Amino acid sequence: MTTIEPILAAGIISALQQFVTVTKLHPILVNFTAALVPVSVASDFIGRLCKIESLRNTGWWTLFYATVVTPFTAITGWLFWMGDDNGVTGMTIHKWLGTGLAVLLFGLFAWRFNLHRKNQWPTTAYFIVAAIFVAALAYQGHLGGEQVFSGM
Ligand code: HEM
Repeated sequence: MTTIEPILAAGIISALQQFVTVTKLHPILVNFTAALVPVSVASDFIGRLCKIESLRNTGWWTLFYATVVTPFTAITGWLFWMGDDNGVTGMTIHKWLGTGLAVLLFGLFAWRFNLHRKNQWPTTAYFIVAAIFVAALAYQGHLGGEQVFSGM
């Protein structure tokens, strides 16, 4: 690596940090992740319960969009990190839980994709894992909101 590359990389990261801070992209994107995953699981669940085919399609496509957007939710979170977030236990959990959830969502997506491919309804095991995921996501959102709004 030449000496110019680390300087270039630092410049790009700093420009991205500025962009995310100005646009408040993380608080915008969190809404997509926080809405799409529960809507997917609820649609699949009600769809299976009432045998409504269009709800099963809703469950599949909303999870698809959640999986596309969530890596950006996590990346913008890292870029949105500010000095006063350091040393706050809730934010340390938020950082690692959020990163973990973004990775684990690919696993949930792969599982749901397999069911979609075989034209099958999601199984009870899928619903149990997805419900745990949604609970963790709700806790994740709570921690972020607590940091932003607790001082107000
Ligand atoms: C699934 C992923 C994530 C979700 C659903 C999520 C959710 C949230 C929510 C709801 C807020 C409050 C936003 C507001 O209303 O203003 C927030 C704030 C924040 N999140 Fe996340 N987040 C995620 C991942 C991450 C990651 C991976 C990081 C960083 C490492 C991160 C860093 C932050 C920061 C720095 C704030 C602002 C805190 C402050 O103002 O001091 N987030 N997040």
